[in-house]
Amino acid sequence: MGVLSEEVREQIRGLFPKYPNKRAVTLPALHLVHDTYRAVSREAIVEIADLLELHPSEVHDTMTFYNFFKDEKNPLGKHRVWFCRSISCALRGGEELFEQICNKYHVHPGEKTGDGKFTVEFAECLGACEGAPCILVNDECHMDMTVESTSKLIDKL
Ligand code: FES
Repeated sequence: MGVLSEEVREQIRGLFPKYPNKRAVTLPALHLVHDTYRAVSREAIVEIADLLELHPSEVHDTMTFYNFFKDEKNPLGKHRVWFCRSISCALRGGEELFEQICNKYHVHPGEKTGDGKFTVEFAECLGACEGAPCILVNDECHMDMTVESTSKLIDKL
């Protein structure tokens, strides 16, 4: 038995009709596995490749190209919090906000907290510069953030 559940395999197979070929399913399959397991392990890469009839190195290349996916050595926390570090947010204290939150929750950039609740990351422009500094909590953007408002959000996670 592999690391991917039959349900996840079925979900990947379910993507096939939506794309021109199996190779084109690589990225959505990686997202699916990443969302489900909070990481894409080496074993998962081999199994995805098998489903897509690709060599594992091709799936691995796609996975590592984007610098978005975590591997089994550094899996995602339950939630992912992105801090924008592009110009508008940087000018309005985004980097200090990030540093203070990292210190407060004893977490390093790109890693998850000791309790596994969340991972903090740098992001490039989130497209909400008018609300700088802003953060993305999972898929939700929050603007005009302070240490207090960010902590409140994080504590709710
Ligand atoms: Fe932060 Fe654009 S610079 S959202």
